[in-house]
Amino acid sequence: MIQTLVILGASGDLTSRFLMPAIVRLHQAGRLPEGFRVLGVSRDDWNTERFRSHLEQKLASSGTADVSGLRKAILRKVDYRRADVTSRDQLARAVGDMTDPLVAYLALPPALFAPSIESLVALKLPKGSKVVLEKPFGESLESAQALNRLLHESFPERDVFRLDHFLGKQTVQNILGLRFANRIFEPVWNTHHIERVEIIWDETITAAGRASFYDATGALRDMVQNHLLQLLALVAMEPLHALDERTLRDHKVAVLRAVRRLTPDEVPRQTVRGRYARGAIGKEKILPYLQEKGVRAERNTETFAQVTLSIDNWRWAGVPFVLRTGKALGCDRREIAVHFKPVPHLAFGQAAQPIPNVLAIELDPDRIALSVNVNEPGDLCNLERIELDKRFPSGGLPAYARLLLDILDGDPTLSIRDDEAEESWRIVETILKVWDKGGVPLIDYPAGSDGPHGDLNGDARR
Ligand code: BG6
Repeated sequence: MIQTLVILGASGDLTSRFLMPAIVRLHQAGRLPEGFRVLGVSRDDWNTERFRSHLEQKLASSGTADVSGLRKAILRKVDYRRADVTSRDQLARAVGDMTDPLVAYLALPPALFAPSIESLVALKLPKGSKVVLEKPFGESLESAQALNRLLHESFPERDVFRLDHFLGKQTVQNILGLRFANRIFEPVWNTHHIERVEIIWDETITAAGRASFYDATGALRDMVQNHLLQLLALVAMEPLHALDERTLRDHKVAVLRAVRRLTPDEVPRQTVRGRYARGAIGKEKILPYLQEKGVRAERNTETFAQVTLSIDNWRWAGVPFVLRTGKALGCDRREIAVHFKPVPHLAFGQAAQPIPNVLAIELDPDRIALSVNVNEPGDLCNLERIELDKRFPSGGLPAYARLLLDILDGDPTLSIRDDEAEESWRIVETILKVWDKGGVPLIDYPAGSDGPHGDLNGDARR
């Protein structure tokens, strides 16, 4: 396993909110390699002592490592060097003396990816070193392709980790177990039995505190292009014959390739774009998105995106896949809902059809529920709907810790491959272009509501 993690942009939020808590968990679980070190690099005029006290304060206030002895043990593994990571000379001074393979983690805003990769490429890191990039990987198909070309100048694809933390989530991994370790789902997992699939990530959180990042990104690039398309790929891919990095990623990319690109004419019909306005979530009053610090009105950034896609293959022809996400909505709902078709014939003499089955894979909290129709007690002709419902304890490592372990181990199975990233951009490209030109209205919705109008809100919310 690689022993050195170099974090570029280490003074930022990502390090203290996600990476350090993940490292604490790995340390607690005894999973860190012997001799593990973290080297934080950033432009701030700090030294190791200052960096450690910054991290200590953040870890303590988030309650991540509530034992101060544990915090101290972790922080002893951490050093800091000052450098502008986009400057080749400065980066060379900071990490040029490393002789063993290392992980270079770009905890940076996307705009700094290209210049910092250029510095890394010039540096010629020790053979076997890995580079990690957060999403969004680029901001368009073209920029993702350019980043891939740049990365490959120095790093073979298996040393590049495009991180999507959803793939480290336990329930997301459970999609594979559910689909491929049970005989009952596969025969009905197709257009003959499934009416539609919804992939929903509704959030009550607002963009407050990270609006300057969010405003340059928007819901489509922040969630749909990566996380939600990954969920779609896992739900829709063909059965795996083996669980290794090549097979899993080949299968995902085959589905992404089969997703039909919307034409400019289809975009207004198949997509919804919204932005939260003043409102309230519970008792909390919410400011309009436009008043968040860091937001520029002229960018017209969306905080809600809904996209309906089709997959052009034998299994899925005619089944809509609805992907939806939004901030400042009335309730948190994070799930994949597989809606089955009605039964072909009813012998119960009822005028109304029973509501068709829905398999809900809830992703946070982890839960799987299947709604089925049974007879009402004591009544042969009337039906009632019940739910077979199972919550999972969220045991195991949190997503970031799990993925970090894979990176140190050099296992890219749960990382996004170059062609996957590009295919995902291809899917959203026309939508982005039409939205940028104002071809789809940006609908204001009150914070705390169900979103712009979402035709999903009625029947999808069981
Ligand atoms: C991040 C997005 O990647 O995922 C956020 O940038 C989003 O906007 C988050 O809220 C959702 O994931 P999680 O694991 O925090 O629920």
